[in-house]
Amino acid sequence: MAKSADHFKDVISHAKEYGFVVPSSEIYDGLSAVYDYGQNGAELKNNIRWYWWKAMVQLNENIVGIDAAILMHPTTWKASGHVDAFNDPLIDNKDSKKRYRADVLIEDHVAKIEAKIEKEVQKAQKRFGEAFDKEQFITTNPRVVEYREKAEAAIKRMARSLENEDLEDVKKLIEELEIACPISGSRNWTDVKQFNLMFGTKLGASAESATDLFLRPETAQGIFVNFLNVQKSGRLKIPFGIAQVGKAFRNEIVARQFIFRMREFEQMEMQFFIRPGSQKEWYEYWKEKRMQWHLSLGLGEENYRFHDHEKLAHYADAASDIEFKFPFGFKELEGIHSRTDFDLGSHEKFSGKKLQYFDPELNESYVPYVVETSIGLDRMFLAVFSNALQEEELENGSKRTVLKVPAFLAPVKAAILPLVKKDGLPEIGHTLVDELKCHFNVHYDEKDAVGRRYRRQDAIGTPFCVTVDHQTLDDQTVTIRERDSMEQSRVAISEVADILKKDVDMAGWLAHL
Ligand code: GAP
Repeated sequence: MAKSADHFKDVISHAKEYGFVVPSSEIYDGLSAVYDYGQNGAELKNNIRWYWWKAMVQLNENIVGIDAAILMHPTTWKASGHVDAFNDPLIDNKDSKKRYRADVLIEDHVAKIEAKIEKEVQKAQKRFGEAFDKEQFITTNPRVVEYREKAEAAIKRMARSLENEDLEDVKKLIEELEIACPISGSRNWTDVKQFNLMFGTKLGASAESATDLFLRPETAQGIFVNFLNVQKSGRLKIPFGIAQVGKAFRNEIVARQFIFRMREFEQMEMQFFIRPGSQKEWYEYWKEKRMQWHLSLGLGEENYRFHDHEKLAHYADAASDIEFKFPFGFKELEGIHSRTDFDLGSHEKFSGKKLQYFDPELNESYVPYVVETSIGLDRMFLAVFSNALQEEELENGSKRTVLKVPAFLAPVKAAILPLVKKDGLPEIGHTLVDELKCHFNVHYDEKDAVGRRYRRQDAIGTPFCVTVDHQTLDDQTVTIRERDSMEQSRVAISEVADILKKDVDMAGWLAHL
């Protein structure tokens, strides 16, 4: 399986060419960091969404799902802390006039140091072979130790300065680390300023009476404000969770890297309500559970890692990211946050309504603590899509582009291909489509040579191609060609549905969670 040096460019152009993702309102030259999903993208995205939803809501008796509105009472965002604290530190380069997130500049600098450490490790590994002890090497090799100390010191100082709102020191750190603008190459920086990421909008018909609102920057608050409604109507006992999938909006300072950082995106979030004092245990539980979900997709264990936060959001007492190896390196894919009783406690204060739970076992009422799992659906899409896109050299020297997404996530599960457009083969093909289409998404394709049709299906990740040929007329058998191995087998047409279901049914994958 090969990925070119320019894999990320390939990902973006393949996504457009095959109807997965395109810039929004492209005929007007697009809108920065806003994207539309095409016919195949929407299917893949829906399948990821349902895999998450079913893993959360269907597999856990004590988790329910809701769908709250995007527009919420403006006090929500005062209570949640987003009006005062949902800021990113921004800095401009005076020469290129480019705007950056100051913390990202520092983190990218540290990532470069980490890459140097990795290089040293690889060199040493080659030199020492079997006898190589990585742990000993990174704790004793003077050059690596120096790199590690530099990286750690930079991250610690940044976390401290941001926590203390000491933006002057953040700028000083950028200067001391000699970080240059990637565009102009200069170190001519402005001061660091805070920038609120929420999009404002108005509710009401006239300018005088309109109320200022925000488009929600996270779906979580729709869960918190519904905590009592759901708990009471569902008669739920702690511990229990509320899950939701929906749009969120952030006016990101630097929105780049395709659908990795968007201004309009979807989140899949779950708030797990627990007894105060049990947060550590549940935080560890959900870290492991969520990693298990990711690994179940088979995208490669080596492509995931945890990154525990030094700098905590205003609501958290512990936080960790599940990072994924995107084409541009390891980056956050999902966050697991121990949010304490910050949100419910704050909504109690601002709304004047009690948001407490009576615990019959303890015979007391309390504001529950919360452990949250929060993953971007678009980011998960990018993880699956970029990992799956491969170019393969075939035995005959030709190349094929294939999207090796897990079979049950594929936009189209099977393509039905009559070998020729005559002799009754199309009719058999259509009958098979009619039989399969109630179970899963299938395509019928009779155009071009069968080899070209296979390539088209490979490019959108279709796990199976079913070919109807002249032998079918004699013995009611067809060939099934498997996407990854390209192997073909001859089976009775009556068995096709059951054979495909084994691989493409989500139920089988959920059973292994
Ligand atoms: N409720 C907690 C919360 O929103 P977050 O770390 O800000 O936490 C959670 O966001 C997840 O949402 C991230 O791990 C990422 O997958 C996704 N996400 C955040 N900002 C995003 C953006 N601008 N574009 C795409 N996905 C984003």
